[in-house]
Amino acid sequence: MEFTMSFDPVTRIEGHMRIEIKVDRVSGVQQVVEAKAAGALFRGFERILIGRDPRDAQHITERICGVCPTAHGLAAVRCLEDAFGSAIPDNARILRNLCGGANFLDSHILHFYLLALPDYMEGPAMPPWQADWKVDRRFGKAQSDTLLAHYLQAVEMHRKAHEMGALFGGKVPHPPAFLPGGITTSPRQERIDAFRGYLDELLPFIRDVYLPDVELLAETYPDYYAIGRGSANLLAFGAFDEGPGTSNPLLPAGIVHAESRVVENFDHTAIREDVAHSWFDDADSGLNPAAGRTQAQHPKAGAYSWLKAPRLAGKPFEVGPLARMWVSGDYQRGVSTMDRHRARATEALKLAEAMLGWLDQIDTAGEVYSEPTLPASATGMGLTEAGRGALGHWCRIEGGVLAGYQVITPTAWNASPRDDAGVPGPIEESLLGIPVADADQPIEVMRVIRSFDPCLDCATHVLQPGKEARVHILRQ
Ligand code: NI
Repeated sequence: MEFTMSFDPVTRIEGHMRIEIKVDRVSGVQQVVEAKAAGALFRGFERILIGRDPRDAQHITERICGVCPTAHGLAAVRCLEDAFGSAIPDNARILRNLCGGANFLDSHILHFYLLALPDYMEGPAMPPWQADWKVDRRFGKAQSDTLLAHYLQAVEMHRKAHEMGALFGGKVPHPPAFLPGGITTSPRQERIDAFRGYLDELLPFIRDVYLPDVELLAETYPDYYAIGRGSANLLAFGAFDEGPGTSNPLLPAGIVHAESRVVENFDHTAIREDVAHSWFDDADSGLNPAAGRTQAQHPKAGAYSWLKAPRLAGKPFEVGPLARMWVSGDYQRGVSTMDRHRARATEALKLAEAMLGWLDQIDTAGEVYSEPTLPASATGMGLTEAGRGALGHWCRIEGGVLAGYQVITPTAWNASPRDDAGVPGPIEESLLGIPVADADQPIEVMRVIRSFDPCLDCATHVLQPGKEARVHILRQ
C-alpha cells in the first residue's frame, strides 16, 4: 500500500526543512519511491541588504544561521574584498582561518554526537534517544555506555570550541570581528596561548575519541555504505588559505562527477539557480547568482520549496565534508551515509592539526587590517566553505551601496528541490530506494538525512495523512 509521510520541520537552520516521502512495496521490500525536500521558510536576507552600506553585509548575513555564522561572515568579507579589489594582511588571513577552523570543529563534533549518533545507539529513556522506537540498535551495553560517556564529553568539547573561536572572533556565535580589509582582534600572545590550550584538548578528543567512535559506527552498520548515495556529484569551493592570496588553500576547490577519482576544476559562471519548483518568480529561473534576484511568488503551481535549485553546468552537486575530503584526496572510499560521517571526522583531524601550525605563523607585532577604498560601483564574489558545505556570496554595488546580493548556502545545494528539468536534488535522490522496515519508526530515512548535517536539532514531526498525527520529539 502506497502512502506519503512528511517530516516537518527537519531543521531550523539554512531555511527550515521539510521532507515528504512516498513509501511503497517494491519487489517485496517496503521502500522510499519518491522524495521531496523543501525549505519551509522564506529567507529574504538578500532583500534586507539592498540599499545598505556594503560593509554591513558580514554582520547581517551572519544572522542567516546560528550554527555556521562564521562562514557567512567570511564569505561576505571575501565577496566585498573582491569587489573593492583589496588585500588583507597575512595575520588577518591566519586569524580568520583559526576562527573558521574553530567553527568547523565545533560543528563536526556537535553533529556526530548530538545529532547523528542517537539514531544508532541505545541511550537513556529520554529525548533524544527515542527509547520507544524498536529499531535496529546494534551496540552492546558496554559500547553504548562508552558512547554515552563520549556524548557527554562532546558537549564539553563543543563548548570549548565555541570559546576558542571567540578568542579572535570577538564572540560566538555571530563573531563581530570580521570586516573587509582584515579583522578587528589583535593577535596578543595571551590569546594565542589560550587558543593553543583549547586545541590541546580538542585535538586528542578528535583523534582518540571521535575518529575511533566513527570507525566503530562504520564497522557496526556497514550496510549504510550502500544506503543514501544521492547524486554522487561532489563540489567544493575550497577554504583556509595557507598563503597570501587565495591560490593555496588547505581544503582545495574542485568537482567530481559520479564518484570519479578524477578531480576537475569548475567554472563558477556555470552556476545557475532554477526556480521551476520553488516559490520564486519564474522570470528569474536559470540565472547565475551574480545576476540573481530574490523575488518571491507564493502560491505558485508546481512549487514546493523556498529553496532555489542551484546547479553547476546543469547538474546537481552534493557539498560538505565528503566533497572536500574527496577533492583534497584525503577520503575517496565512496558516497553514502557512512562515508559522510567518516569524511567529516577525517576532516576534523586534518583541520585541527593544521590549526596548531597556523598558531606558530602569527606575527604578534604584525598588522591585522588594511583599509580598503570603497568603489562607487563594483561586483564581487566570495566563495568559501561552511562546516556543512560550499558557501557563496555575490554582491553588486551601485552608488556606493548594495544594489544586489545573493547567497547560496550548502543546504541549498544538498536539499534543493527539483530543477527546471525535473531532476531531484542530492538529498531527494539519496532517499530513493532506501528500505523502511517500520513506517511508524522510519529510522533509516532519518539516518540518511542527518548524514548531510542539515542542522537538525529541534523536533521532528512524522505525519501520515488520513491517520492520527504522530509527533516524535527528538530534543526539547
Ligand atoms: Ni547553517
